[in-house]
Amino acid sequence: MPNLKHHVFICTNEREPGSPRGCCASRGAAAVRERFKEEVGKRKLKGIVRANQSGCLDQCAYGPTIVVYPEGVWYGCVQPDDVSEIFDSHLDKGQIVERLVIPERHLNTPAAAMGPKPEA
Ligand code: FES
Repeated sequence: MPNLKHHVFICTNEREPGSPRGCCASRGAAAVRERFKEEVGKRKLKGIVRANQSGCLDQCAYGPTIVVYPEGVWYGCVQPDDVSEIFDSHLDKGQIVERLVIPERHLNTPAAAMGPKPEA
């Protein structure tokens, strides 16, 4: 089997209601993952693009959070309606969807992990 072109991890982590960190599950991550699965099927990309749910990616303030490999591009606040654009732009043409990228200066910081979402 050839190597995947892209591997997408979608955080679907769930925390107790009221958790100060919040979670991607409470912000609609399951619908985002479902949309990824639908698009892989619709575009006949099985074996080329793989979309897996993941546990917490420690960017909770930006949930729902996804990361696309091999580039290691992190997207935040992803909604189901953003998914087709990610396929059209990034996964098909290699053009990163800049408006969804978690800013490098916030990535893997305590603020990104603990919230609230840092100001742009
Ligand atoms: S709960 Fe999704 S990144 Fe932490």
